[in-house]
Amino acid sequence: MTERLNDKRIIVIGSATGIGAATVRRLVEEGARVCASDINLDGAEKLAAELGCGTFAVPVDIADEASVKAAIAQAVEGLGGLDGAHVNAADLRVIFEDTDALDVDLAVFERTVAVNLRGHLLCTRAVLPHLLANKGGAIVYTSSGSARAGEPERPCYAMSKGGLEALMRHVAARWGREGITANAVAPGFTMTQELRDGGQVPQAVIDHFVKTGRSTRLGQSEDQAAMVAMLLSQDARWINGQVININGGSQFF
Ligand SMILES: NC(=O)c1ccc[n+]([C@@H]2O[C@H](COP(=O)([O-])OP(=O)(O)OC[C@H]3O[C@@H](n4cnc5c(N)ncnc54)[C@H](O)[C@@H]3O)[C@@H](O)[C@H]2O)c1
Repeated sequence: MTERLNDKRIIVIGSATGIGAATVRRLVEEGARVCASDINLDGAEKLAAELGCGTFAVPVDIADEASVKAAIAQAVEGLGGLDGAHVNAADLRVIFEDTDALDVDLAVFERTVAVNLRGHLLCTRAVLPHLLANKGGAIVYTSSGSARAGEPERPCYAMSKGGLEALMRHVAARWGREGITANAVAPGFTMTQELRDGGQVPQAVIDHFVKTGRSTRLGQSEDQAAMVAMLLSQDARWINGQVININGGSQFF
């Protein structure tokens, strides 16, 4: 493992499980000092305790502006400043009710947007001043292949991720010349440990991905984490405003 993130001070927002947790691990392995922030404080605290190396957890509900401001303030205090952020949280509990544009309950739309889109704007507004005070830094968002796939279901989720990509490009355009990079990873189907343990993904879906893709295996959280680490490092200083698809080469999702 390289030490390219040595002493970088990074917050991962949405880090108790899945891709965010794998990112925290990867960043710590690469030498960063990391604040793991999540609505699931227990999960973030367990991860931080397991990893050590100064990793610490702070609670946040990204749907709540006061909570976001408090979390970033705690992170900055604990880290002694901020060099980067991975804004990764999404409320995936409502995704199974995200049916289609005619049928979907507007409460599902509102919750999806409150976390996956408005929440990311709130995180951006809280993080950016600290990066600018540092004369630069990196923000990496987690989008999804569904932002561009055009699927027959989960329109609210896709809309939130499409909006998030627009926010990312705005940040890159507005503050790029002041040393800010903003990029997004767009995972394809990624079998996180929690999805594996939960057993909720039908075998037929797993078989479909394994048999029809350009890769013979499913995506893992670590595949996403590796790219996030790169985008937060100096290796990515000339990458800005980009969506990087991490999906085993899938043409569809
Ligand atoms: N797993 C996939 O196949 C896949 C594919 C495409 C995109 N994504 C995206 O990757 C990201 C991570 O997803 P994951 O699969 O690891 O799921 P996950 O549920 O394991 O991770 C999401 C994290 O966000 C946290 N969170 C939820 N609501 C929050 C809130 N209001 N405030 C703060 N934290 C909150 C959760 O507690 C959790 O730790 C999400 O943005 C998701 O949309 C995942």
